[in-house]
Amino acid sequence: MFLKFSKSKFSVKLAIFVVTILSISIFIHNLLFSSFKRCVLYADKILLSPNGARSGDNTKFVLLWKNHHVFTKGYIRTLNCPISDCVFTENKNLLDGDYSQFDAIIFHEDLLTDKWLMPTKRKSHQLYTFFTIESAYYNPACELRNDNYYNLTFTYRLDSDIPWTYFIVRDVNEDIVAPSLNVRWEESTKSIKPAIKSILKRKTKAIAWLVSHCSADSFRDDYLSRLQEHLYHYSLKIDVFGGCNGLKCFNKDCDEMLRNNYYFYAAFENSFSEDYVTEKVLHGYLNYAVPIVYGASNYSRFLPPNSYLNAREFHPYNLAYKIYEAMRDYEIFESYFKWTNTYTISDHQDMDHPLCNLCGHLHSYKALRAPAKKSFRVWWNGLNGMKWCLSPEYWNETARLNIDANHIFTMY
Ligand SMILES: *[C@@H]1O[C@H](CO)[C@@H](O)[C@H](O)[C@H]1NC(C)=O
Ligand SMILES: *[C@@H]1O[C@H](CO)[C@@H](O)[C@H](O)[C@H]1NC(C)=O
Ligand SMILES: *[C@@H]1O[C@H](CO)[C@@H](O)[C@H](O)[C@H]1NC(C)=O
Repeated sequence: MFLKFSKSKFSVKLAIFVVTILSISIFIHNLLFSSFKRCVLYADKILLSPNGARSGDNTKFVLLWKNHHVFTKGYIRTLNCPISDCVFTENKNLLDGDYSQFDAIIFHEDLLTDKWLMPTKRKSHQLYTFFTIESAYYNPACELRNDNYYNLTFTYRLDSDIPWTYFIVRDVNEDIVAPSLNVRWEESTKSIKPAIKSILKRKTKAIAWLVSHCSADSFRDDYLSRLQEHLYHYSLKIDVFGGCNGLKCFNKDCDEMLRNNYYFYAAFENSFSEDYVTEKVLHGYLNYAVPIVYGASNYSRFLPPNSYLNAREFHPYNLAYKIYEAMRDYEIFESYFKWTNTYTISDHQDMDHPLCNLCGHLHSYKALRAPAKKSFRVWWNGLNGMKWCLSPEYWNETARLNIDANHIFTMY
């Protein structure tokens, strides 16, 4: 008995030992060999030859000029890109400590205001790349030096050189069809899948709104409080979850709650910027709650027709009626889900991750000649957006007159 026990203990120890040795060698193998085959974020000195010199290979080196939460939190991982011979790093000491040797340098939204030291030397083969997925409204490009500076744009804007959208829409062949400037939607007339029907039939509550910032410059709160006034007439309610207001839910619980209870989900953007459509809509779609969108984008470039309601196309009075109507008549509610027969909407998968697209772009002929954007600021801020750069004194003087959203606010 005793012998048997210690024997099995020994084999457990042996197994742990073997597994440890195996994982260490796999780790070392990955460090040494896979780094140049794949997109590796956060490459450090260890990944390069001792003097850090480039050895005539085809690897593209990309420097992140200042660290950014999008890269550090979610993306320290290896992606399986179709074209993947890229090394991403924020270590300026690589390549002999000479950042003008990098093929591309990424500058994110914080650097528009130039609080940090910008590069002082630049070589003509380099691609200065402006990256952000934050709204232009809250991150306008005001400094003159932003013009004629960036060779590439890598943002949520669909007309970026490499777009980084918050989600993708695929058709039945798994091809990505949206978001895109040119999209042709196919509408399905078939009935939806029974599994989805049974989710839809369980729902009992009108609208959920998950919000972390209480007042935003898009006047979304104002719209929603008007909407609430009209919903009262039908005894319906917007349930507000998050920082500003009583109700609470946490991550997975929020999803489950949305899926089980809510007909609609308020996917209201915090600002009006062209193409700024965030993961909020995804939250609705993944939980079979119809998104009510509100933003400055042309949503038909992003989302299948009849799969959402656009608050800016309705007076709150009429939107309240649409909501009431869908809750009263199941056929109407179900019709918002016909898109599920022809499309899937999801987060980026590894293969088509925007960083893979950037890596592909750097290897394409397009990277050979990419003149800097002369009118970057007008492009990024929008034609009317330079006023976002005006001083707080100006805004105080002109009160709310000039804020874009104001004309909508006064409409109701
Ligand atoms: C919105 O985008 C679609 C698809 O690109 C286009 O056909 C339509 O004209 C656009 N609408 C507006 C108001 O720009
Ligand atoms: C990027 O823009 C700079 C500044 O205009 C230019 O000198 C450089 O040649 C451009 N890079 C490429 C690869 O075209
Ligand atoms: C603008 O007005 C607000 C509220 O009246 C005030 O708190 C703020 O100090 C003013 N800002 C400037 C720059 O005058």
